[in-house]
This record gives sequence, C-alpha cells and structure tokens, in this order.
Amino acid sequence: MNEGEIMQRTTVHETWSSRTVFLLAAIGSAVGLGNIQRFPQMVGENGGGAFVLIYLICVFVIGVPLLMAELMIGRRGRQSAITTMRLVAVEEGHSPRWTYLGWLGVLIAFFVLTFYSVIAGWGLDYMVKSLVGQFAGLDAARSNALFNGLLADPLRLAFWHAVFIGLSVFVVARGVHKGLEAAVNILMPMLFIILLGLVGYAMVKGDFMAGVNFLFAPDFSKITGKVIMLAVGQSFFTLTLGAGAMMTYGAYLPQNVSIPRAVSIIALSDTAVALLAGLALFPIVFAFGLDPNSGSGLAFVTLPVAFGQMTGGTIVGALFFMLLVIAALTSIIATLEPLVAWGEEHRGFKRSTTAIVAGIIAWVLGTGTVFSFNIWKGFYPLGWVPVLRAKPSLA
Ligand code: PFF
Repeated sequence: MNEGEIMQRTTVHETWSSRTVFLLAAIGSAVGLGNIQRFPQMVGENGGGAFVLIYLICVFVIGVPLLMAELMIGRRGRQSAITTMRLVAVEEGHSPRWTYLGWLGVLIAFFVLTFYSVIAGWGLDYMVKSLVGQFAGLDAARSNALFNGLLADPLRLAFWHAVFIGLSVFVVARGVHKGLEAAVNILMPMLFIILLGLVGYAMVKGDFMAGVNFLFAPDFSKITGKVIMLAVGQSFFTLTLGAGAMMTYGAYLPQNVSIPRAVSIIALSDTAVALLAGLALFPIVFAFGLDPNSGSGLAFVTLPVAFGQMTGGTIVGALFFMLLVIAALTSIIATLEPLVAWGEEHRGFKRSTTAIVAGIIAWVLGTGTVFSFNIWKGFYPLGWVPVLRAKPSLA
C-alpha cells in the first residue's frame, strides 16, 4: 500500500473538527488528577526544583518523542489502537501480532478508568461538602476524621464512582463531535479560568513566596535512582502514554495538523497546569501553617482545613474540587474512548452500547478499589508480588 492509499483508507470514525478542539481534547486527557493532585505532592516530597528539572527532562526527552510516535501511528492507521497496530505492522511487512500491544494499551486505559473514577468521585463528594459548609472550623484531626469517614463508606464511594462513570459514558456515547468535542469545548476553558483564579487567590491571600520556594528551590540531595524513576513514571502517566488513548485521538486527526507542533503545545500546557496547580496549593498551605508534605492527604485532608478558615473558603474550596473533577473528567473520557473506538469497527457494536457495557464493567471492577478502603482493607490479593506488598499510594 502506498502513502496515497493509506490516506484514503475508509474509516468508521469521525475526524476532529479543528486543530484547536483536538488540542483541547489531548490536553484534557493529559491534564488530570496526575497534575492537580499527584504532581505538586511529588515535587514537595522529592527535592522541589531538582525534581521539576528531572521531570522536565523526562517529559521533553522521553515523553515528547513517544507522544509524537503515538499520534503519528494513530493518524496513519486511522482506526482504534488495536486495529491500527495490526494494520500498520502488516503494511510494513511485520507480524500482525503487534495488535497485542494495541490491546495492552486499551486494557491499561480501561483499568485506569476503574480506579481513577473512584478518586475523582472523592472530588465530587468534597465539592458538595465544601458548598454545604462542612469545612467550617475544621482542624487537622477533624479533617482527617471527615476524610476517613468518606473512605469508610462503601455506598457513598460507589455512588460517586457511578456518577463519574455515568458522565463519561454519556459523553463518549454521543460521539467525537457531539460528545468529546462538546465536552472539552466547555470544560477546558472552565479548567483554565478556575486554575488561574485560584493562583490569583493564592498570590493575594496565600504565602506565595513560600509556595514558590517549596516548589522550585532545588535540593539535589533528594535525587536518587528511585526519584528519577518516579519522574519517568509521572511523565508517562501525565502525558497519557502507552494507553492507546493518544493513538486513538491521533486516528481522528486531520492530515494538515503538524504533530510536532501539536505535541509541543500539549506537553507545555500539561507541564504549565501541573506547576500552576502547585502555585495555587502551596501558598495556601503555608499561609495557614499546615504541613505541605502530607502526601496524598494534601488535597483531601490538609487543604479543607485551610478552606474552612479562609474568607470565601466555601467557594474557593468548591472551585478547587471542581477543578479536580473537570480535570479528571476530560481524562476519563480518554480512558473509555479507545475501547469504544474498537467497538465501532465491529458491525453490530453501536457506540452507545459499547460505552454502556464498558461503563458497567468498569464500575463493577472499580468496586474493588472502593472496598480496598473499607471492607477489604488490609487484604492484598497480589501481596506475594514484592513491589505490590506495600500500601499503594493514592492517585
Ligand atoms: N494523564 C492523566 C493524568 O495526568 O491524570 C492520567 C491518564 C488518563 C492516564 C488517561 C491514562 C489514561 F488513559
């Protein structure tokens, strides 16, 4: 098959309406809990500016070329990652078994969906908690109790998990134009406005310089092999690499979009959001004399104490959790799309049917994550694998 024939390959899929909307969708899939919750916490714990430097090297030296490759292979195949990997390999005279790599990516995305929506569900719960004034007058102990109370409640967790999966099924079932594009056109501008608003608030009301110092003062003594591996891992997670998602988004890409330029914009925006999230969080943490090294409890235990004490904390808190929820939703869409794209290529699999069935299976599997915080707490079915023996950190 020559280049012309490849470009004319018929596809059942829709194409992005514009370069901008593709960029919004790709940035939306990259920006998620990994940026708002995980990145600031990792920076704080692992050497501040020194970690940021290593992370940037990983993003631009390893992540960017891989993201370009995923998008290029996706655009060339113009099918789901599963079919694309087979087609492109065969066209190049290689084994059709490359399709298994496509499957692996799609399954990884699907498993991310199962636990990611549970954590995103906490964000919805906390958004409501903030609005109804439950943070008022919280101290550290009561904030801890509030969070533990949520984790101990499987029904509540399962409910929010269902709401989140329901939202993503709704968006994905409507298709690329009416679903994905409509969602990112509304959600991404909201995300940027809320984020900038929170950074502005942190500048005025927080201890901004303490936050900047904490994030950027380099402490190279903390850099170990393990920390470098964490930075590599974070760069993969945050750019949504290896999950078939970017390959699928690449399949919907018109030929006239420059992939290297698009990838630079995606990587820079993703990094900017991660850094801005840190600049929104830490100045507030410092202004209230709280502990910035509270790990995964930073967003759900430490910050509510600050929201409970600050002027306008009800709104600022609700906006922060809304930011988390929006970021998570635009990523979750990208975890479901690869499987739905594959379904679309099979006659009889309607887009909405695949989305609903996949959503139900993801919800059921996700109850494993839900129960791991309460009724199955302390039960480690894979505990015999050395690296999985330790208690996993959240999101
Ligand atoms: N990029 C997302 C984040 O940083 O939160 C995580 C992610 C989304 C990973 C979708 C994989 C995926 F398919």
